[in-house]
Amino acid sequence: MAYWKGLIEEYRPYLPVTDKTPVITLKEGDTPLLFGPRISKKLGNGLKLFFKFEGLNPTGSFKDRGMTMAMSKAVEAGAKTVVCASTGNTSASAAAYAAHAGIACAVFLPHGSIALGKLAQSMIYGAKVLAVEGNFDQALKLTRELADKYPVTMVNSNNPFRIEGQKTAAFEIVDTIGDAPEYHAIPVGNAGNITAYWKGYKEYKEKGISKSLPRMCGFQAAGAAPIVEKRVVENPQTIATAIKIGNPFSWKKAEAARDESKGLIEAVTDEEILLAYELLASLEGIFCEPASAASLAGVIKKNQKGYFTEGERRVVCTLTGHGLKDPDTAILRSSKPTVIKPDMTEILKALKL
Ligand code: F0G
Repeated sequence: MAYWKGLIEEYRPYLPVTDKTPVITLKEGDTPLLFGPRISKKLGNGLKLFFKFEGLNPTGSFKDRGMTMAMSKAVEAGAKTVVCASTGNTSASAAAYAAHAGIACAVFLPHGSIALGKLAQSMIYGAKVLAVEGNFDQALKLTRELADKYPVTMVNSNNPFRIEGQKTAAFEIVDTIGDAPEYHAIPVGNAGNITAYWKGYKEYKEKGISKSLPRMCGFQAAGAAPIVEKRVVENPQTIATAIKIGNPFSWKKAEAARDESKGLIEAVTDEEILLAYELLASLEGIFCEPASAASLAGVIKKNQKGYFTEGERRVVCTLTGHGLKDPDTAILRSSKPTVIKPDMTEILKALKL
């Protein structure tokens, strides 16, 4: 039986690797593209919603796609230490792949703004975890200064190999449905992923593997929406901590993806994000983290405004990370367990049977 070899081997001709590149892989990629019948029906309007569930990567987020490339190239170049700033997922991925490669890793996290599961990951994978008393943007600036002056390799999405790995998610979508969808919705934080998907879609079209390109629809959290507001947000705020970013590194490239694809980048509120997050879990059985649900939240909002009008309307939403990364939000938004005595009458009463 053919088995998945990890995305570098699967997409080798499309990636900047050679026979000399040591492939550091945890068999990332090959994530399911799930059709969402119940949410599609709820939205009506003939929309067909698909969810690219990136939470099923080895460390539970899309970051593993970029990290297999960044880490392989870092090891090829002789790196001994990798560093990154992160809202939690890049750090979890960097820590895991560095452990797998047998090199050191240091991560810079905004103190108090990291979901519990993500913090646990960086710690147990053995990274040096520095909790910076500041926000992500400050942590990123410090990491860049460090990498400019000292012998460490930075694996944030300023590292071009990250984008190369992440573009393979677009390849997988086309390989699954036979062409690009009409629309692609995606959360936007530091703006690397929207850049990567657009690159992937364009490359497959240039090679003649797909015939069309999607409109890229990026969504930022309303309290952290610098691209939408066209200004740096000094003190970003949102429950979606993964995208709590006020000065995205790939700002210009995200705007290019939006404009070239005739798409959009807009904002969704925390309440809209949480509603989409709950719908995904309760209507489709898909548990993603809050930031991931910004893609569906945006689609719901734009659908209400009549945005999806032309021809066939396949919409792929990237769900960037797994819900288990942020158990606190899940518990906060759910009804509490009913505590009962070990007794059948109590069970029957609780179940109203
Ligand atoms: N969704 C999740 C779950 C994320 O972790 C991130 C980014 C994004 C969306 C946005 O992607 O930055 O490429 O626009 N997380 C980074 C991190 C910033 O440090 O883990 P982006």
